[in-house]
Amino acid sequence: MSATPVPRSPRILRRAVLGAACAVASGWARAARPAVLLRFSHVVAPDTPKGQMALRFQSLVHARAGDRIRVEVHPASQFWGDDDEIEALRLGAVEMLAPSLSKFGMAGVPEFEVFDLPYLFADLAQVRRVTQGEVGRGLLQRLGRQQMLGLGFLDNGFKQMSAARPLRTPADYRGLRVRVQASRVLGEQVRALGAQPVVLPFGETQRALASGVVDAAENPLSNFLTQGLAALQPHITLTQHGYLGYAVVSHPRFWASLQPADRELLSTALAEALAHGNRLAAELDAMALATLRRTPGLQVHGLTPAERSALRRHLQTVYDGFQRSLGSALLTDVQRALDQR
Ligand code: SIN
Repeated sequence: MSATPVPRSPRILRRAVLGAACAVASGWARAARPAVLLRFSHVVAPDTPKGQMALRFQSLVHARAGDRIRVEVHPASQFWGDDDEIEALRLGAVEMLAPSLSKFGMAGVPEFEVFDLPYLFADLAQVRRVTQGEVGRGLLQRLGRQQMLGLGFLDNGFKQMSAARPLRTPADYRGLRVRVQASRVLGEQVRALGAQPVVLPFGETQRALASGVVDAAENPLSNFLTQGLAALQPHITLTQHGYLGYAVVSHPRFWASLQPADRELLSTALAEALAHGNRLAAELDAMALATLRRTPGLQVHGLTPAERSALRRHLQTVYDGFQRSLGSALLTDVQRALDQR
């Protein structure tokens, strides 16, 4: 299926001008200008797997390149939100991003929505068999169709559902407005539960929950914790129903403009930063769970094996709907990778 890239908007152009003006006003612009400036924008908090990976990348590059290459990390949607960051990359207003895999469908690479299928992965080891193997390499290559250079995958973790009530059975979801990322699969997943999906950028989710625009959300625990959602959603249910990970992307034009030695330096630093982030993901998830369990006013609910199986069976209909549009070849390749030992 074909998907249309996001059109250039006046808002994007205004923010690109704003970003450039801020760079000019900043210290490095007045001091010696680095040969390479790499702006890495992302939407989450620094103390998440993505935030930590970006900071590790920055420190590795600075340690190895001295003043010649400057990496600026802009977290928490400071300049770009997840609704406009990919367009900003195409316009040259930012050089590196790590959007969640769910965001690439709407950016014109619908195959990435395969990662959103509910209960596709049993654990992170299975995720790695897909992302670090042939399927992952093929998916990164497909980003080239939409002016993105795919550089690697990063885990966050498995998503859990939160609301003003426990969500143990499909019936518990009925009538809820659930914030989702802009992914057709995620929209269908929520509809299959009898709830209404509401697509919102990550940076607007907290406000939407606080104001009652939406009633529920799905998040990995590190995002739930660092966005302060425990103060807004008194129940979190450990559904583990889907995976949330990232692909780091740059722009082919920027990458081609680099000296070969700089490209090598950045690639190596990024590979090391990704390995660090991937090691950290499970650890941050466990730490977030421990913190949330101690959070006054928040109840953390586990599902029984029977409840999990019932939810999983219920969500099977999502697979039927996407068998054709995601492509049976891709699904077969993913299944083969999952079955590998
Ligand atoms: C992210 O982790 O980058 C954001 C995920 C989301 O939009 O829920």
